[in-house]
Parts: sequence; C-alpha cells; structure tokens
Amino acid sequence: MRISIITIFPEYFDSSLALGITGRAIERGLVEVQPIDLRTWGKGVHRQVDDSPFGGGPGMVLMPEPLANALDTVEEAHRVLLTPGGAPLGQAHLDRWAGMDHVALVCGRYEGVDERIAEHMIDEQVSLGDYVIAGGEAAALVIVEGVVRLIPEVVGNAESIERESFREGTIEEPHYTRPAVFRGWEVPEVLRSGDHGRIEEWRRSQREERTAARRPDLDPG
Ligand code: ADE
Repeated sequence: MRISIITIFPEYFDSSLALGITGRAIERGLVEVQPIDLRTWGKGVHRQVDDSPFGGGPGMVLMPEPLANALDTVEEAHRVLLTPGGAPLGQAHLDRWAGMDHVALVCGRYEGVDERIAEHMIDEQVSLGDYVIAGGEAAALVIVEGVVRLIPEVVGNAESIERESFREGTIEEPHYTRPAVFRGWEVPEVLRSGDHGRIEEWRRSQREERTAARRPDLDPG
C-alpha cells in the first residue's frame, strides 16, 4: 500500500514516520508513505502556493495550479482532502482506505483550497472533528496511523483489532496490569479470579456502562 501526503510542511512527518508501529511497517516494506512538497509547484522565488480570496475577506486560499500539479502526480490514488468542512472521520473511513492500493491525503491550509480543486480533483473530504486546527497535517498523521495499523501483518495481534472500540459499537472496557495494588488502588477482584466466564461478563457490562455514560450516541443496539 502507498500513502501520499500533499503538504507545505513535508518535514512535519519525519519523526512520526520513523517511530512506532508506522515506522516499523515502513521499514518492513508493508507500506510506503511519501510526503509531497506542494511548494515544488509554487510561484516565483518565494514558491507561493496561496493567494487572497476572490470577493474579498480574511485569510488566504491555496491556489489551484500548484495543487493540481501535485495531484497530477498521484492521479491513480483515492484523493482525500483534510478540511474542517469535511465529513467527520470515523473508523469506517480507515477500514475502507486500508484496503486500497494508493491513498493521497491533501493537507488544507489557510482558509482552504480553491473550490475547483475540491470539486474536480478530490474524491472525498474529511474532518478530524468539529474544531479548527492550523491545517490538515495533524489530520493526515491521524489517518496514516489509523490506516497503517489495519494493514495485514502490521499489528501482530489481529484479535486486538477485532475487539477494539468502535468495532463493536462500544467503548473498550478498562484494562489493568501489575501491581495488583498501587498506591492503595486495587485491581477489580474479578480480573484476578481466573474465572473466564465471570471476566468476560464483567468486561461486557463495563463496555455497556461506559458507552451509555460517555457515548450515548453510539447506541450499541
Ligand atoms: N484543518 C483545519 N481544521 C481541520 C480539521 N478539523 N480536520 C481536518 N483538517 C483540518
């Protein structure tokens, strides 16, 4: 699988692509992640990629030409624009993209991108959530991590992916490790009982209680 990231900050991704699960997956050749510097196609000595909006108003808009040229280099990819105006990112997006050969993530900046690019050269627009951050780079990182860990062979324990939050429409149960008592705080007795039936039942009820309390919108059905 290949993930391209069109950005004015290619170096933003350096450390995260070298570390952890993503770093290992790249090292093992299971995925190729390629930041593409939008300024390669910038105008003039300053390699300008943005301009003021038609109709006036604050902020700057990413110009169509550099973006179009960058997108031309990833023509066969599924092209995703990161913008606060997109659909809220969910696990279903990550599941779907993890099955693709090539995904291109376009990091918006400033007030946004020229709408003609969004209309004619983008397949899908997503947002990290109902808040505005400086640009799409952090969202691209979230997506890279979320997609890479779903690639077969990347995460050793396939069961942990199957069981995790949102796959069953519930939040995960709490987890504990040694010591059994820490600063006087005890691990629930049931988890130390060795009774796997009781443990499974306890975990299920914890998931349901947490989901009802924290995420009533998830509705486990
Ligand atoms: N760029 C700025 N805010 C964003 C958001 N919430 N999601 C994705 N990209 C963004």
